[in-house]
Amino acid sequence: MKSYRIALIPGDGVGLEITDEAVRVLDVAADIYGFEIETESFDWSCDRYLATGAMMPENALETLTGFDSIFLGCIGDADKVEDHISLEMLLAIRKGFDQYVNLRPIKLYPGVSSPISTATPETVDILVIRENTEGEYSGNGGFFKRGTPDAFALQTGIFTWKGCERTIRYGFEMARSRKKLGSTAPVGRVTNCTKSNALNYSMVFWDEAYDFVARDYPDVETDMALVDALTMWFVKNPDYFDVVVASNLFGDIITDLGAMLQGGMGFAAGGNVNPEGDYPSMFEPIHGSAPKYTGKHIVNPIATIEAIRMMLDNLGESAAANHIESAIKAALSAGETRTRDMGGTNSTIEMGTAVVDAMRATA
Ligand code: IPM
Ligand code: MN
Repeated sequence: MKSYRIALIPGDGVGLEITDEAVRVLDVAADIYGFEIETESFDWSCDRYLATGAMMPENALETLTGFDSIFLGCIGDADKVEDHISLEMLLAIRKGFDQYVNLRPIKLYPGVSSPISTATPETVDILVIRENTEGEYSGNGGFFKRGTPDAFALQTGIFTWKGCERTIRYGFEMARSRKKLGSTAPVGRVTNCTKSNALNYSMVFWDEAYDFVARDYPDVETDMALVDALTMWFVKNPDYFDVVVASNLFGDIITDLGAMLQGGMGFAAGGNVNPEGDYPSMFEPIHGSAPKYTGKHIVNPIATIEAIRMMLDNLGESAAANHIESAIKAALSAGETRTRDMGGTNSTIEMGTAVVDAMRATA
């Protein structure tokens, strides 16, 4: 029997309660599809920081290396540790494991309403490929004369040719292999999210990498949108977009807007993927840790369940992944279970149960 070792990092705030739902869905999928799941949980969090002075141990990456995949709940609790310190852990794993593709599907499930009126299950089906290890997030820079009237801060973006090229290439591969909802075209379109009209080095370089890669994919439609205009078009014409490739910062920003197209942060998940499989990949709901809701069991676990769907897909268990997707759709379109963010009163556990019941019902 196939067996997968999954590392769990629940993190802070509501992390524990959503991780419970992640494990439940994993276990049911394993049961239905005949594989084994072995999980190990790590208490890497702001509480650990307060107790030991570090979010995670020094050998954290070494420890994680032996796992097939990682589930990350949510990190950060600004009342305990400043965000730029606690979140360093997330960035360290992304960079350390060369998870250079941040895979962020944007789709609106039936039965979910979006605050954006153009968004319907028929119009929203976008895949954002965000560069995840460098660019604006390189973490290089410094302070000068801090605390004096002459103080300044320098934050340097680092765009390597390798970093740009491989991320963009992944986007083109996705456009070839996926079938956009409602599309009649044989292959898809890759929109280059850029800002080369103002960022005259980094984004000009990024565009060159895009053009270079595009030559290898004459069958895929090319397209470009400046990031500011893209936010407008995401709202006005979400149906236009297929695959979007973006740098680290731009991809971060447009996927929060994407989450609104999806009905809210309770539905949006992401994969931090090392496509070569040299290191484990990591899957997470992209919402924050909502410390004020800790232990209240009111947050929507769909983003978490969606992260597990992506994880299983990445592990090659695509039948199980598709099964979870169908179960999410069934649970949401039944309309009986609605968490607080959806205007209902059901708990995290009840929503998890609705999905798990739907998985069992069609097993
Ligand atoms: C995300 C988050 C992180 C990011 C933060 C918490 C560092 O916003 O995963 O989208 O900017 O990448
Ligand atoms: Mn973000």
